[in-house]
Amino acid sequence: MYQADALDFTDKPAAYAELASQVRGLLEGEHDLIANAANFAALVFHALPMVNWAGFYFHDGKELVVGPFQGRPACVRIALGRGVCGTAAQSRTTQLVEDVNAFDGHIACDAASQSEIVVPLVRTDGSLLGVWDVDSPHTGRFDEADRTGMEKLCALFMDAVDRRNA
Ligand code: SME
Repeated sequence: MYQADALDFTDKPAAYAELASQVRGLLEGEHDLIANAANFAALVFHALPMVNWAGFYFHDGKELVVGPFQGRPACVRIALGRGVCGTAAQSRTTQLVEDVNAFDGHIACDAASQSEIVVPLVRTDGSLLGVWDVDSPHTGRFDEADRTGMEKLCALFMDAVDRRNA
């Protein structure tokens, strides 16, 4: 059973290392994409302080469609290149947005969201699975330590996805 407790993020690298070890344990031995995505979103959402949304958008071959998440109901479909998620998907680079109000084309699903980090999820064959998106009601909530930590968590998630396809 998982406690899924909030972690102490005073030392961010240490907290992300602990979270990474929890993610490894949670996904180990399970290959179902939706099950792993749902548990990953729940674990990370409850571990991180000051976040109001955490979840997946999956690429359906044409656009991004919302997947398992924690938080308020979200926009269902996002075109590639649109908003923070669509930009991460199209550019395949992590988007770290300190103030969503200053991001041209930001899509406001929850008016409370003020900052956001979106990590692209790319399979080993180079195809786009989707993106991992975390929102905060605080401006400037995410920094380089979050980028490093979140990319590591997503790499572990993608390991489980690629194992499924192996
Ligand atoms: N703000 C995002 C949309 C998704 S929600 O935040 C859940 C964006 O601009 O892509």
